[in-house]
Amino acid sequence: MSKKTLVIVIHPNLEKSRINKRLAEELSEAENVTVHRLHEAYPDEVIDVEHERRLVEVHDRVVLQFPFYWYSSPYLLKKWLDLVLQMGWAYGPGGDKMEGKELAIAISTGGAADAYQAGGFHHYSISELLRPFQATANRVKMIFKAPFVVNGIREVSDEELETKAAQYAAFVVQP
Ligand SMILES: Cc1cc2nc3c(=O)[nH]c(=O)nc-3n(C[C@H](O)[C@H](O)[C@H](O)COP(=O)(O)O)c2cc1C
Repeated sequence: MSKKTLVIVIHPNLEKSRINKRLAEELSEAENVTVHRLHEAYPDEVIDVEHERRLVEVHDRVVLQFPFYWYSSPYLLKKWLDLVLQMGWAYGPGGDKMEGKELAIAISTGGAADAYQAGGFHHYSISELLRPFQATANRVKMIFKAPFVVNGIREVSDEELETKAAQYAAFVVQP
C-alpha cells in the first residue's frame, strides 16, 4: 500500500504566490495525499496543536512545502514546530509519535541553483542550509529525505513550472 502523505504548505500569501500555489494545486487529485495549507487553516495564526498532532499521526510521511525565506522557512512553520514537537509526544519519555515517518522539504528559492554552492552567490548548498530541519528530523527519529527544490523562480517559465509541478506530484507520492 502506498504511503499516506501529509503536505503542509506554509506561505503567508498563497493567493499571490506563483510557485507554491501551483505546486500545491498539482496535488489536488493525488491519492493518499492530504494538502494542509497552514495559513488558510489558521488565519489568526493560532495553531490547534491537538489537531495537528492527529493529522501527523495518521500519515506515514510529512512534506513541508514553503518558499525559502532568509535561508529558512516562513515563521508560521517555526511556530508549528515549536508547539507540535513537544516532549512526551515527539521526543523524550513516550514521545515516539514521529518515529519512523519520513520528512521531506519542498522549497522554492529566488536564488538560482548555481548560487547555492561554495563560491556561489549564497555560499552554501541547500543541503547545508536545511541542516536545522535535518537535525530536527533526526532528533524525533524521522527519516530525512532529499529535498524537492524549485530554484531561480524569476527565471522559471510557465512551461518549466508545469514540468516542475508534475515532478513534484511524483516526488510527493514516491513509494
Ligand atoms: C521575506 C523573504 C525572504 C526571502 N529570502 C530568500 C532567501 O533567503 N533565499 C532565496 O533564494 N530567496 C529568498 N526569497 C525569495 C523567495 O524564496 C521567492 O519569492 C519564493 O520562493 C517565490 O515563491 P512563491 O511564488 O510561491 O511566492 C525571499 C523572499 C521573501 C519575501
